Amino acid sequence: MKAVIIDEEKKLHWQDFAKPEPGPNEVLIEIHATAINRADLIQRQGFYAPPPGASPIMGLECAGEVADTGKNVSKFKVGDRVCALLAGGGYAQFTAVDEGSVLPIPGGNSFVHGACLPEVFATAWLNLFMEAKLQPAEKVILHAGASGVGTAAIQLCSSFGSPCFVTAGSDAKIDTCIELGAESGSNRKEGSFYEKAHAFAGDSGIAVILDPVGGSYLEDNIKLLGINGRLVLIGLMGGNRAEIDLGALLMKRIRVIGSTLRARPLKEKTALMSELYEKVWPKIESAEIRPILDTVFPIEEVEAAHDLVASDKTVGKVVLSVKS
Ligand SMILES: NC(=O)c1ccc[n+]([C@@H]2O[C@H](COP(=O)([O-])OP(=O)(O)OC[C@H]3O[C@@H](n4cnc5c(N)ncnc54)[C@H](OP(=O)(O)O)[C@@H]3O)[C@@H](O)[C@H]2O)c1
Repeated sequence: MKAVIIDEEKKLHWQDFAKPEPGPNEVLIEIHATAINRADLIQRQGFYAPPPGASPIMGLECAGEVADTGKNVSKFKVGDRVCALLAGGGYAQFTAVDEGSVLPIPGGNSFVHGACLPEVFATAWLNLFMEAKLQPAEKVILHAGASGVGTAAIQLCSSFGSPCFVTAGSDAKIDTCIELGAESGSNRKEGSFYEKAHAFAGDSGIAVILDPVGGSYLEDNIKLLGINGRLVLIGLMGGNRAEIDLGALLMKRIRVIGSTLRARPLKEKTALMSELYEKVWPKIESAEIRPILDTVFPIEEVEAAHDLVASDKTVGKVVLSVKS
């Protein structure tokens, strides 16, 4: 098969690579489309190694057809149209993945749209609902609201009854976030989000903040959280060091939760995917929630696709088409 290989100069090549064999609990997927995640850019630079046992190939999600199944696989058969959460291996023609990380493509979605779903909806659901235990009517801040994760999280908040405020890098992105269900937002290129977010928070303060930025936003995040507030840290785009007001943490009984998805045990990923299937997939089938697609590139143009993601100009997902 072919896969995207990173050379010593960090250049990407679509070239021959060993085809994986499915283990007893694994599904072999012939990949039709895969999608880019911010983490791929970091892995390419050598700073985000795959967890032990995972494929060295980039790619945290895919959509395609089941090509083979291990002897213990019970939920899928050859020919099924599926999408999957991967610990690696998506930038390839085939991948083998535990059946607990695989779901049917919901509704009539294409492979391209199916590839937009697993990583961002799994991340948003895991962190808003399983880690932060978000309740209806609680107020939320979503940083990087127009990102893949942000556009999934806005739709989940809106659909499950939690008003949300976003930050993003342009007024046009804020408008798109509002169309997706956010109440209001702040353009990070025009200074601190604090005043606008404070107006949105009202007397009760913010209940949950989903934050991929980290250091540079920590002080304002802590100020905005209300009593029993939860800050879920999922990325460090704004640095990994900052001072923290422990007094505010103590008095407001704030919890700071660090969370990564990729290295979690299969058991946890299976539980997460089951919740997604039960709670979110019906909403995608009814088109209440939808995949947000920015651009599709043929996989041979993966470098141009990475450049687009790195430009910070995208809204939602950039997809690589593997088989048309
Ligand atoms: N922990 C986990 O398990 C997990 C899983 C998935 C994703 N993540 C993290 O979630 C974030 C979003 O991922 P994604 O793949 O959805 O990203 P994405 O679609 O590539 O979007 C990322 C956006 O973040 C904004 N941004 C870039 N640098 C920033 C900075 N220094 N400060 C604030 N905002 C900045 C940019 O939008 P604007 O210019 O519009 O602000 C950029 O378009 C990433 O940090 C990723 O690592 C974490």
